[in-house]
Amino acid sequence: MKLLTSEIPPGKPQTRRKNQKLAPLIVSAFLLTFITLSYPGIIRDSRKISEANSQAFESLDQDSITPASTRLDQKNYQPCSRRKIDAPGCNSSVGGEEIQARNPPPHTTVSPPLTTAEHVLVASKTLTEKDQRNCDLFSGEWVPNPEGPYYTNMTCNAIEEHQNCMKFGRPDLGFLKWRWKPDACELPIFEPHQFLELVRGKSLAFVGDSVARNHMQSLICLLSKVVYPVDVSSPTDANKRHEYRAYHFNISIFSSPYLVRTVRTEPNDITRPFNLYLDEYDESWTNQIEDFDYVIISAGQWFFRPTYFYLNHSLVGCLYCPETNITHFTSSFSYRHAFRTAFRAINTAKKFKGITYLRTFAPSHFEGAQWDKGGDCARTRPLKRNETLLEDFSSEMYSIQLEELKIAQEEGRRKNGSKFRLLDATTPMLLRPDGHPSKYGHWPVQNVTLANDCVHWCLPGPIDSWNDFLQELLKREMEIHRLLT
Ligand SMILES: *[C@@H]1O[C@H](CO)[C@@H](O)[C@H](O)[C@H]1NC(C)=O
Ligand SMILES: *[C@@H]1O[C@H](CO)[C@@H](O)[C@H](O)[C@H]1NC(C)=O
Ligand SMILES: *[C@@H]1O[C@H](CO)[C@@H](O)[C@H](O)[C@H]1NC(C)=O
Ligand SMILES: *[C@@H]1O[C@H](CO)[C@@H](O)[C@H](O)[C@H]1NC(C)=O
Ligand SMILES: *[C@@H]1O[C@H](CO)[C@@H](O)[C@H](O)[C@H]1NC(C)=O
Ligand SMILES: *[C@@H]1O[C@H](CO)[C@@H](O)[C@H](O)[C@H]1NC(C)=O
Ligand SMILES: *[C@@H]1O[C@H](CO)[C@@H](O)[C@H](O)[C@H]1NC(C)=O
Ligand SMILES: *[C@@H]1O[C@H](CO)[C@@H](O)[C@H](O)[C@H]1NC(C)=O
Repeated sequence: MKLLTSEIPPGKPQTRRKNQKLAPLIVSAFLLTFITLSYPGIIRDSRKISEANSQAFESLDQDSITPASTRLDQKNYQPCSRRKIDAPGCNSSVGGEEIQARNPPPHTTVSPPLTTAEHVLVASKTLTEKDQRNCDLFSGEWVPNPEGPYYTNMTCNAIEEHQNCMKFGRPDLGFLKWRWKPDACELPIFEPHQFLELVRGKSLAFVGDSVARNHMQSLICLLSKVVYPVDVSSPTDANKRHEYRAYHFNISIFSSPYLVRTVRTEPNDITRPFNLYLDEYDESWTNQIEDFDYVIISAGQWFFRPTYFYLNHSLVGCLYCPETNITHFTSSFSYRHAFRTAFRAINTAKKFKGITYLRTFAPSHFEGAQWDKGGDCARTRPLKRNETLLEDFSSEMYSIQLEELKIAQEEGRRKNGSKFRLLDATTPMLLRPDGHPSKYGHWPVQNVTLANDCVHWCLPGPIDSWNDFLQELLKREMEIHRLLT
């Protein structure tokens, strides 16, 4: 099924090289690219990285780049209630119903943090089953958790090198000692035995980029206390399949950073632009999706790379291309189309009766300078929600995701088909500038400055909370099922 161009309002045509806000993210996408392609193993050829870094900047007007750090300067602090966002709010996956517009939108209420005494009080107050089921999991704060982490680089062998922050000597381990606390209830910590029972006989697919893989590895590590899966995929295939045979549970990952059909303009040079066929399925995953019970779909930083946009087989525009006779769009254009097409693929998959979780955009945290000029994420504590704001471009990406999720939910319901749920990573991860590998994603290389990774997440680390969310969402789903039958 093809998407009509007219169904989606075109993004605002963009004046090339003028968008200051986007600059820090464009480069972080290059970081993402290189880490993705060098997987698995350490980045050995540091010169290649440096070259790539400089190439990444060719298309950017260096003078126009605003350091990402300015957003955290004291003078720029703004309470969240002044956050400029006209995004619809949402009720997470409460009640198995579609997300609903909520007033005020997320992040706008700033409740004072609980004192320790209050916290204990709230924790000990037994929440009714209904309170727990209906509470918005994603509105909350990070609270101290002396019990973390739940695995280490010694107990889990599935940690990708770049995210093995302990191995590469990260000195402060305080970032491991936090858990997410929803305002109105508790988010139970991941419990591997319980999880494996929840998913017995099921199959789970991740669809996305290297941050999706980061999430999957966190899940495999959290489960490794009980059992490791058998990896039945070819070592050269970016798509992986892991089998938990004793539980008849499978985890697959489909590498699809743009979610739609993508063709490189230069097959062997990933620094060149990609062609995105925004209304065509990426069949590497859409042809296989019917077999899965759960799909966790996500996309992010790749959409800030130079790209050409095709609709109905025709070139309709581009992002950061040199041509003057092509319409220049912002990333919102491709992001919206890609999600609409991906969700449509799921909604038109005849046999698919599973649940799709949209794991929303996880912001990066470069501060102090540009990403290749020593920009870093060196903080060692989470932020409070009144200490930061979602930047305009992140906010726009997030809004697009929520809007497209809602459209997909309505379509799914109309067709008696698949269910779509929200797994909001944006809200909690915005507050975790301390959770990235930074320079601890590789060994120090003499005389070479490698970019700091403020895009992916250390393992163990705050990304483990995504599996706390997943576990709770699955539990809620079973509960709804139980109540209905
Ligand atoms: C959604 O949230 C609003 C405000 O928090 C609440 O009034 C409403 O009942 C919720 N809807 C559902 C379906 O839970
Ligand atoms: C954030 O809120 C806390 C508690 O309400 C307060 O102590 C702190 O000063 C606030 N920070 C800013 C930057 O407003
Ligand atoms: C785990 O981290 C420690 C430092 O905390 C390091 O010495 C060790 O080499 C790492 N092991 C693995 C297998 O990554
Ligand atoms: C898991 O994978 C195996 C091998 O491909 C397959 O036989 C089995 O049916 C799968 N299980 C589920 C629940 O999809
Ligand atoms: C797609 O292009 C073809 C030929 O270029 C045209 O006939 C068709 O109407 C177009 N379809 C849509 C949906 O725009
Ligand atoms: C843009 O101009 C070039 C050369 O002038 C031409 O080859 C190309 O077809 C044009 N592209 C579009 C989309 O008009
Ligand atoms: C959806 O399912 C209900 C009950 O299962 C059925 O009555 C209805 O006809 C179905 N609608 C469509 C469009 O298939
Ligand atoms: C690093 O720089 C120093 C001084 O410029 C030089 O002597 C040394 O060989 C360099 N090391 C490497 C690994 O390039």
